[in-house]
Amino acid sequence: MSVLELVWIGADDPRMTLVHALRHEALFAPFGIARDDGWDDAGDDRRHLISLRDGELVGYACLLLTAEGNGHVRQVSVRPDLQRTGIGRALMLEVEAEAVRLRLPLLWLDARHTAESFYHRLGYSTRSGMFPSGRTGIPHVRMEKRPGR
Ligand SMILES: CC(C)(COP(=O)(O)OP(=O)(O)OC[C@H]1O[C@@H](n2cnc3c(N)ncnc32)[C@H](O)[C@@H]1OP(=O)(O)O)[C@@H](O)C(=O)NCCC(=O)NCCS
Repeated sequence: MSVLELVWIGADDPRMTLVHALRHEALFAPFGIARDDGWDDAGDDRRHLISLRDGELVGYACLLLTAEGNGHVRQVSVRPDLQRTGIGRALMLEVEAEAVRLRLPLLWLDARHTAESFYHRLGYSTRSGMFPSGRTGIPHVRMEKRPGR
């Protein structure tokens, strides 16, 4: 049976090259958006979580520590052929566990409307109407959760 590993890595970890490819494949390629690896991944305020199955990168999430002391979750991505197999949930549960360890009072994210139900199932509440966001311009909603509750 294959085991899913969850590992927090630094921005200088060589596996970030694979993260760039996965983020593009999961988040932007379906919209015909050209690959652009110019994300600002460095900095003490951002943490990178990868999931590995049989040693292969299959998922990613970024936890950004905000100036207000909260956690902003970004770029949650699962390899397209493995979506809906529990990897996204595992990533989000580990992000939440990290938020509890860091005593962050709030986690928030801008969710694509297509993923809103995914986050609802994890206990996130919608806090805004829809707005276009990011590189795709597709509708998003602001969602939030108090970690550990
Ligand atoms: C959205 C995404 C991160 C979810 O990860 P995943 O591994 O596919 O989701 P999981 O298999 O862990 O699903 C957990 C639960 O949410 C449900 N779910 C997953 N994606 C869903 C979606 N888009 N809409 C509604 N429900 C969804 C699953 O059916 C499952 O339900 P259950 O509690 O009844 O078992 C992943 O599908 C993905 O990378 N999508 C493309 C990129 C994207 O939209 N990222 C989010 C940007 S805000």
